[in-house]
Amino acid sequence: MLKKLMRKKTTDIQSLNERIEIVKKRQIPNHIAIIMDGNGRWAKQRKMPRIAGHHEGMKKVRQVTNFANDLEVKVLTLYAFSTENWKRPKIEVDFLMNLPGEFLNTYIPELMEKDIKVEMIGNMDALPAHTRNAIEKAMEITKDNQGLILNFAMNYGSRIELVHVMKELAHEVAEGRIEANSINESVINSKLMTAHLPEPDVLIRTSGEVRLSNFMLWQLAYAEFIFTEVLWPDYNEDCLLQAIEEFQNRDRRFGSLEGDQKG
Ligand code: FPP
Repeated sequence: MLKKLMRKKTTDIQSLNERIEIVKKRQIPNHIAIIMDGNGRWAKQRKMPRIAGHHEGMKKVRQVTNFANDLEVKVLTLYAFSTENWKRPKIEVDFLMNLPGEFLNTYIPELMEKDIKVEMIGNMDALPAHTRNAIEKAMEITKDNQGLILNFAMNYGSRIELVHVMKELAHEVAEGRIEANSINESVINSKLMTAHLPEPDVLIRTSGEVRLSNFMLWQLAYAEFIFTEVLWPDYNEDCLLQAIEEFQNRDRRFGSLEGDQKG
């Protein structure tokens, strides 16, 4: 029985490696954005408190980040806390605010070894000091790394981001620094928190929910959407590989008639 199980495991690893080789020969998405959903349900299924699901979800962040880095994805944006998540019970919010510290403090040596750079989008000022300090410290230490950008969306909301862009442009017009007629897509892009990043090619949402929940509404205009029933704490390398395979098999036309070439 054990021998049979071990044989099956070796075969699974072999086929995963083969799939990785195939995927690497085609176009790897530059930027993958993930709405990590289903932590609460994962915990409920196990009769555990919701925070146990978030803790398991944090472990998956490490696993998926390392795999995305191995595949040479350039940017991985993870929706870790939305502007609406403050409405959750205090005990859950406090727990979520502790995760960046726990995660980054233990993971920084590995981030350095793997050349991964930490960034953040969202309103940093409204985070508790210990959360902000942990993120700022990780951003500072990893700032010269050249590999994957691990971009946490923390206290992030897309509508408020767009409101800020509009206000800033309104001020610039009022002060005569820009003409209203010269506002175009690239001007708006340049004011977003993601101005320096490529647009996401793929948006993944776990747990079977099929909505955007105020996540990168402008930036996702041409992304391929991939929804999976898998709960975030169960997400793994195989799931990400499947998402990339699906992306590579889609015909991205950006509104024209011709598909792009993915190799
Ligand atoms: C949504 O699931 C998930 C969140 C609001 C938090 C996501 C955070 C993590 C996965 C950990 C982040 C790690 C770091 C290092 C910042 P849910 O609670 O809404 O699940 P449910 O819909 O099943 O209740």
